[in-house]
Amino acid sequence: MKETLERIRQEALSALEGTQAIQELETLRVKYLGKKGELTAVLKQMGKLSAEERPVVGQLANEVRATLERAIDTASQNLEKAALEARLKAEAVDVTIPGKAAVLGRRHPMYTALSEIEHIFVGMGFTVLDGPEIELATYNFDKLNAEEGHPSRDWSDTFYFDQDSRVMLRSQTSPMQVRAMESMSLPIRIIAPGRVYRKDEVDATHSPMFHQVEGMVIDKDVTMADLKGTLNLLAEQLFGKGTVTRFRPHHFPFTEPSCEMDVQCHKCGGVGCPTCKGEGWIELLGAGMIHPNVLRMAGIDPEEYSGWAFGMGLERTAMRRFKIADLRLIFENDVRFLEQF
Ligand code: PHE
Repeated sequence: MKETLERIRQEALSALEGTQAIQELETLRVKYLGKKGELTAVLKQMGKLSAEERPVVGQLANEVRATLERAIDTASQNLEKAALEARLKAEAVDVTIPGKAAVLGRRHPMYTALSEIEHIFVGMGFTVLDGPEIELATYNFDKLNAEEGHPSRDWSDTFYFDQDSRVMLRSQTSPMQVRAMESMSLPIRIIAPGRVYRKDEVDATHSPMFHQVEGMVIDKDVTMADLKGTLNLLAEQLFGKGTVTRFRPHHFPFTEPSCEMDVQCHKCGGVGCPTCKGEGWIELLGAGMIHPNVLRMAGIDPEEYSGWAFGMGLERTAMRRFKIADLRLIFENDVRFLEQF
């Protein structure tokens, strides 16, 4: 029996030496130490031994068991360590390999134009405001002196959210005039850029979503001359010295008197071409002296204060600024187009 135990010890230990995988260890453990294993089989025959032999063989059997258990443990730890090392080696990152260059985009030309506009106005002491695109008709129309029945309130022009025409996508940035009057203390100098929405079909000059920049000044003794002076300065700084502008009388419910400002067409220099639709001029903005009703509704005394406002089309400004012929290019985001700016 002693010989059998010694044989088991030798066999098991040399088998262990050759193991390559954790599963093999388990197989060996079952083979020698398991319930039906060889060592257990020997122990089951202990009853046949004499009383003197039994403790000696028992002790040896325990020794063999302990040796094998320890050996299996050690082998298993070694295998795990080797596996980890192999994995770390396989997954190692070579930090010396040159990296992939990140492709850097650039600012969209319309936003370049906007930041130039903001820069010009901030330089004149204006604050830049942001406001809601989902707007109350009260702000978009009523408080801007455009009563019920005014053509611009029509369902065919405006995106309403409700049957009662109370909530809408703003059709202009002019509600920001009122929001500024209601929330700021006088005097006020603000610009308010943002998206506006109208039910227009897409073509070379129209889109149902476009951008405007609203501008407004309210102070004592503000006149139309200040408005023209400011807008001419804007045109020169944006489009270059000597840029020719033209002011035409117009009508808006919230300004009186009202005008539109055109700049001479950059393509033809005023002669008339497809870009300016033969006009020689490109319409850039609407403007005027703020209507006394609008001031009064916002709680400002029109006898004491006066103001002017303008609303310019941002896409058109960018088109004039960067000599872009078609509005759709601004929205299509074709990289070949955007890369040119
Ligand atoms: N809100 C007008 C428009 O969208 C433009 C405008 C703004 C006119 C401010 C006068 C004063 O056409």
